[in-house]
This record gives sequence, structure tokens and C-alpha cells, in this order.
Amino acid sequence: ASQTLDTRDYILVIGGLGFIGSHTTLELLKEGYNVVVVDNMSNSYDSAFVNIQRLAKKHWASKGVACPRLRLHKIDYRSHMMRTILGRYTVQDAVLSSIRLSHITGVIHFAAYKSVEESTQKPLDYYQNNLAGLIDLLVVLGDFGIQNFVFSSSATVYGSVLSKGGKPVREEQLIHHEAEAVSHDVDGQATTAAVPGATGLTSPYGRTKYFSEAVLADVALADPTWRITALRYFNPVGCEPSGRLGEDPRQKPTNLFPVVSQVLKGDRPSLDIFGTDWDTRDGTAVRDYIHVVDLARGHLAALAAAGSRPAEHAFRAYNLGTGEGSTVAQVVSCMEKAASRSVPVRQTWRRTGDVGFCVAATERAERELGWKTRLTLDDCAADTWRSRPSQALRATDFTVSRRSDM
Ligand code: WQD
Repeated sequence: ASQTLDTRDYILVIGGLGFIGSHTTLELLKEGYNVVVVDNMSNSYDSAFVNIQRLAKKHWASKGVACPRLRLHKIDYRSHMMRTILGRYTVQDAVLSSIRLSHITGVIHFAAYKSVEESTQKPLDYYQNNLAGLIDLLVVLGDFGIQNFVFSSSATVYGSVLSKGGKPVREEQLIHHEAEAVSHDVDGQATTAAVPGATGLTSPYGRTKYFSEAVLADVALADPTWRITALRYFNPVGCEPSGRLGEDPRQKPTNLFPVVSQVLKGDRPSLDIFGTDWDTRDGTAVRDYIHVVDLARGHLAALAAAGSRPAEHAFRAYNLGTGEGSTVAQVVSCMEKAASRSVPVRQTWRRTGDVGFCVAATERAERELGWKTRLTLDDCAADTWRSRPSQALRATDFTVSRRSDM
């Protein structure tokens, strides 16, 4: 039967319509990858799919080239339907026409619940979705021989290591195996690091990420044909220049940038600053705010670099951050500049579980992924201020972009 079989390679993006997932899906398409997205829509919108398509088509139209393929399956990644979907995209010689069907050459897994506060109220939901779901997914991917796996992790896994404060945190300060302990430094000198337990992790959410990394490290140690990458995000903020993929959480936001944005839009009377007595340059807490477009690019760099990693790096964690710390007060003034209006603030007590300083050491990602951030805190503030995520793009929306990365 002369069926038109799709023989392309695809990247599978699980949770590919969420805040970071949608930016990564767009960057993949702009880089020329075909993408199949699985998303249960629990924290994403149809408008994200429409906007990704329009932005990707515009990118390629400017080059006179057809846009790569984007497919969407609105299912939960834990559903048995995943096997059916993977079956359509995996290597199998079609006996009749003896050609290879499409092949999934990599997976990026974003789908997880991520509210620190909610995780303390509903720990089993978090362990079921974030941890048990991951384990079942790995079994399915292993059955189909899909082993280039990029995992969305978080600086929160560093737990009590962060409370020592003051210096950028390095990946080897938290490892899961002696096998990781021998990390070859820049000059090739092997160094070893203590293997910290999951001590001092501040929430069930943080523990689901820590345990997920431990599972991934065990899988890779047992079968080094895997190439598993844990990307430890610091503080993702901003959105791509059109403003249509911005953070649009179904729940009331608690993170700093969206909260300041609400105050500026008049949806909140003022910003509560959690603690002004930290040991920092202005007394407010320091974080490493990374623009979500830079973060998305980090995933592409991790996908591309996986194949050339040695077997002893079958599992490898990378910080994705700028390496620069910014205080809450600095963020407020950047946002005030972007919106040219002031932010009323109230100085309140520290938030339970907060640390005063959390900044990435970025040497490993620069050295091994050839990746580093390009966008500044001002870009993060300007793009956050302009984001209009829930509106679908219209042709007239395509203004001339102010940056070359559009
Ligand atoms: C940033 C700074 C607050 C709100 C969280 C999660 C972490 C990760 C990233 C998933 C802190 C201060 C905030 C406000 C404030 N998520 N702040 N007033 O806490 O660094 O990390 O998001 O992986 O798991 O914990 O980010 O944006 O909540 O706070 O003063 O109304 O802003 O104290 O110093 P955080 P955040």
C-alpha cells in the first residue's frame, strides 16, 4: 500500500506547551528540528501552540524555507497512549516499503508540577506526577531504545548546600554517585567531591527533583548507552520578543517577576519584599535570573552535545544560569525602568525555606556544552513587561523585532 510514511527525525518535547517548554519548542523549530509535543494542557494553553507555529513559520518564511514539522498530542505523558504515540515515531522497518519510519532522536521532559508551596500540601500528587511518572516514562523510552534524555531539573536540588551562602554553586557540590565524583576539571585533573545526601531540601517539590536525578543517575550507571542530562535551572524569567509565550500560570503566581508585573499592571497593590536583612549588597536576597530564551537555547546545546559525551558521563548535570546574582531591589528597579512607573513595596519577613543567595557556577555548561547566556536583566524586565501570553498572534502583530534573535 503506498502510504505516505513520515521518515523524518523528531525531538519529543513532553510538556512542550508550558512556559519553558513552549520557548524550547520554538527554538527547536527555528534550529530546524521537527518536534512532536505531548502536553496534557493542565498548565498550558492552545494559544501557545498557535503562537509557536506562527513564530516558527515567520522565522523560516524570512529565509524562504518551509518550516519543520510540529505535531501535538494532548495527552498526559503518563497515559498508556504514550506507547502508541512512540510507536508512530520510532525506528521500525516498514516491511512493505523497507524504509525507516520517523525516529525520535531525543526527548526533553518538562512535564512536572512545580509549586514549592502546593507540594507541601499535596506531596503524593507531586511524587506521583514528578517521580513515579518519570520512572514509568523511562521504562517506555528504554523499550523503544530512545536514550538521549534531557531532564528539567532545578537549583532547588542543591538544598542545604545553598544555605552556606555567598559563592556560585558548582554541579559537583551535589552528585549522586562516586562515578560522578571524578569530574575532570578544566586542566584534566580529576577532582572528587563529597556525595551529599538529600539533606536540607526545602520541599517535597525539591525532593521530587532530587530523587528524579538520583533515578536518572542510577539508570545511566546501570546502562551507559543512555545519555541523560539534568539541567538545573536557576530562576527562569522573561519571554521571547513577541511577548506571546510569556508565563501565564493557571495558578496565582508567587515568583518575583510575575508578581512585580502584576503590581505594575495594577492587579496587586504592592510587592512584599521577603526579608531586607540578608547578608547581601542591599539586604535583599540574591538570585540568578536567566532569560527563558537563553534557557531554551541551553536545552538545544545539551541535546546536541550528548552524543559526544564519554560513557562515564552517561548521566551529567549542568547548571543553567547567568553566573551573575541580582537582588530583589535590583529587579524592582529594572522593572520600574521597563514600565516607567514605580512599584509600591512593603518590607516583610523572610519566606520559610528561602535562602539569601543562589547563583550558578557556569563553567561546566560553557566548557562542555559551548553554551552561555546572552540576555541581560534589563532584557528580562523589558520582555516580562511586554508579555501578553494569552493573546493569539495576528499577522499585524509582527512588528520589526528589536533584536536579531527574532
Ligand atoms: C525570588 C526572590 C524571594 C516574591 C522559586 C522556587 C524554585 C524554582 C524557581 C522551580 C526570593 C523574593 C519573591 C515576592 C519577594 N522553581 N520574592 N517577594 O524562590 O528563588 O525560586 O522559583 O524549580 O524551586 O523556589 O524564586 O521568584 O519565588 O523569589 O521578595 O512576592 O524574590 O524571597 O529572594 P525562588 P522567587
